[in-house]
Amino acid sequence: MNLLRTTIKFLASTYLNLQTKKNTGYIPVSGKVIDSEELVNMIDASLDMWLTTGRFNKEFEKELRNFFEHKYALTVNSGSSANLLAFSALTSNQLGERQIKAGDEVICVAAGFPTTVNPIIQNSCVPVFVDINKETHNIAVEQIEEALSEKTKAIFIAHTLGNPFDLKAIKEICNQKNLWLIEDNCDALGSEFDSKLTGTWGDIATLSFYPAHHITTGEGGAVLTSNSELYKILLSMRDWGRDCWCPSGKDNTCGKRFSYQLGNLEQGYDHKYIYSHIGYNLKISDMQAACGLAQIKKVRGFINKRKENFKYLYQGLEKYQEYFYLPVKNELSDPSWFGFPITLKENLSFNRVDLVSFLEEQGIGTRLLFGGNLLRQPAYLNHDFKFRVRDSRLLNNIDIDDFIYELLPNTDYVAANTFWVGLYHGLDKSDLDKILMAFDTFKENRLLN
Ligand SMILES: Cc1ncc(COP(=O)(O)O)c(C=O)c1O
Repeated sequence: MNLLRTTIKFLASTYLNLQTKKNTGYIPVSGKVIDSEELVNMIDASLDMWLTTGRFNKEFEKELRNFFEHKYALTVNSGSSANLLAFSALTSNQLGERQIKAGDEVICVAAGFPTTVNPIIQNSCVPVFVDINKETHNIAVEQIEEALSEKTKAIFIAHTLGNPFDLKAIKEICNQKNLWLIEDNCDALGSEFDSKLTGTWGDIATLSFYPAHHITTGEGGAVLTSNSELYKILLSMRDWGRDCWCPSGKDNTCGKRFSYQLGNLEQGYDHKYIYSHIGYNLKISDMQAACGLAQIKKVRGFINKRKENFKYLYQGLEKYQEYFYLPVKNELSDPSWFGFPITLKENLSFNRVDLVSFLEEQGIGTRLLFGGNLLRQPAYLNHDFKFRVRDSRLLNNIDIDDFIYELLPNTDYVAANTFWVGLYHGLDKSDLDKILMAFDTFKENRLLN
């Protein structure tokens, strides 16, 4: 059987290696970089026929823990699920005084990905939107103080496009005010702040393994923590809300399966079916984990390539600073970039649509800063939820009008003027040269004058 398994894996690997990649000439903003190692792992997991989370996931979680030097890593089926799980865990009544309750406030930003903010709303809490800095695209730390209230319980923000927010300042606020910090690290795997990885500063951090990200499992994500109380809650909420912590396929790990009396259940009710949280099932399959396991072994190379590519693009675009705000990082940070953000300066003779349409025509992929200003999105205009903007009174979705946008001028500016191009680890110098050449052509033939 072992020989047969080895042969199957060898044949699959040969098959993949014989395939030639089509060169479409298009430079995507992101993409997966996988080879026969991922395929062989996934086939190995398939041949196990285990299907649900199993031995590959155990290894993958261990590698994630080791990479971050965190005590705990739990895989989930997406970065969005990781964010939902991370925030929901903080609403557990097992946290006593520190439990986040409905109506409590959470500091966040409107410039970014929706599922960084949605878990706050989904848990009936109040997002408090603070503006961002135009060049770092991260939270304007100096505005947090005015946004705080008696009800503030947490700060939940992302390292925008891999660029670390000011973790020292944010941590200090959290420590002083006894706030939880959730780091949405989905776009920042490998970024560092003050020589310490992002994702290791907050109480909980999240990762996404969607193919656009630094490593991929297709769909997938993870939550990270070193807090054992939070880990227990995260595990319970990830796995249906159950009280039991047996891994898939194992029974009676605690040795007391029929000895519990919890809630109003009878003495001895099977611990496998006792629920201590209103939970989800957010687990991944072992095939996904098998892919992730091959990916994480290559992650350091991927990170270095992203950093190199950022430097190359920056050097090539520096000459256009008259037109663009190029990305700025905190002096203590070393970002593992997700993309290369470019923000058009004021009063130019062209606008973002002119430039991105031109780039796309030239075969250069472009993206916006996700949802731009979330408070301009139909979802938030149409959903009945309570929020605040900086130091405003408590508002409702029907109150969204111009005065709100005036409180978030940089968020609005970035929503209208920022886009990003690719620098992911699948791009090499010739791809980056093509991007830079497209900017040169735009200058020569079009509107940069
Ligand atoms: C900052 C951020 N958070 C969360 C997510 C959601 O991740 P996923 O697509 O895996 O749900 C993304 C998606 O790209 C993201 O950019």
